[in-house]
Amino acid sequence: MDYQLELQRAVDAARPLLTTGRVADYIPALGAVDPHAFGLALATVDGEVYGAGDWEVPFSVQSISKLFTLALTLAAGSEGIWHRVGREPSGTPFNSLIQLESEQGIPRNPFINAGAVVVTDHLLTLTGDAGRAVREFLRAESGNPLLDTDPVVAGSEAAHGHRNAALAHFIASYGNLENPVEAVLSHYYAHCAIAASCRDLALAGLFLARHGVRTDGSRLLSRSDAKRINAVLLTCGTYDAAGDFAFRVGLPGKSGVGGGILAIVPGRGTLCAWGPALDRAGNSVGAVAALDAFTTATGWSVF
Ligand code: DON
Repeated sequence: MDYQLELQRAVDAARPLLTTGRVADYIPALGAVDPHAFGLALATVDGEVYGAGDWEVPFSVQSISKLFTLALTLAAGSEGIWHRVGREPSGTPFNSLIQLESEQGIPRNPFINAGAVVVTDHLLTLTGDAGRAVREFLRAESGNPLLDTDPVVAGSEAAHGHRNAALAHFIASYGNLENPVEAVLSHYYAHCAIAASCRDLALAGLFLARHGVRTDGSRLLSRSDAKRINAVLLTCGTYDAAGDFAFRVGLPGKSGVGGGILAIVPGRGTLCAWGPALDRAGNSVGAVAALDAFTTATGWSVF
């Protein structure tokens, strides 16, 4: 397959749609991004990487970081996390509070904000610095030593974080946090506000395409845990649009309000698309369209 040609075709298919969504502005620092930027990268399991458009431009990874916090938590042998967070789709927006009360502070899954706060809490207990753990993993897998948290975005999230603070305090009221709320939120913002490019993220996600094996050949996760993360990505990684994403793209994927989506093709590679304008569920309009076009043309799908 001519990857470069297929990537360019997918970017061309997405471009006309870029202005149909809205750039996230509930985190003010994200609102400053150029809505016309667009990139798409592909990495193969043997570490080759291809890209089109703005694929080497860093953007705010936001909720894509939740995939890595879960992987690093499970890598430390913390199976017990599944007693503190569920693995069912929520059917509600990513920042919703309503299920927490009837479900005793156990978030539905690790990829909504509430679930990611619980996973970040445990990663903080395990490592002493959850933000640093995610940054170091991304740097190692991408080979990009400059990859870092953007302090302006992290500060903007904290300054406008009433909803996440409410979620975290509510979870704490049920005894489902191990660390102080302020510390957990600060680490949560530190990993959400990491800036990375489509290239960086496509390379960093390859361990899930390699059934748990890292770029240096060492094993991060058991094959079973890699399968489980991919399964939860498919059902919960794009929130209450996970059904539509599976229908259109047919791959496990994780979106972020920075406009990125990282998708996994087990046994083959990864794709990462980025366009800042979002649909109502918080997923990038252009990224979904490009992944739809690429997977439809090439048959890269789990189905
Ligand atoms: O906590 C937040 O709201 C953001 N840091 C992350 C949300 C997000 O990326 C949801 N993704 N579509």
